[in-house]
Amino acid sequence: MKITVLKNGPLLVSEACTVLDAETGEEIAVAKAPFALCRCGHSVNKPFCDGAHGKQGFEGACAKQGG
Ligand code: FES
Repeated sequence: MKITVLKNGPLLVSEACTVLDAETGEEIAVAKAPFALCRCGHSVNKPFCDGAHGKQGFEGACAKQGG
């Protein structure tokens, strides 16, 4: 499995895997792979990306910048 950090966007997960709710420990159903996990906080379908990052102008680097 591979997770790709997309610039100004979500985390793209390449294969099916188990996604858990940290508060309840319950499994969150994943319909298909690949799928994208929101990292902007604006999705109405968390933890999955729904494209809201684009409308919100989310800016997120792929990796830590500078020191
Ligand atoms: S990263 Fe896409 S909606 Fe948050």
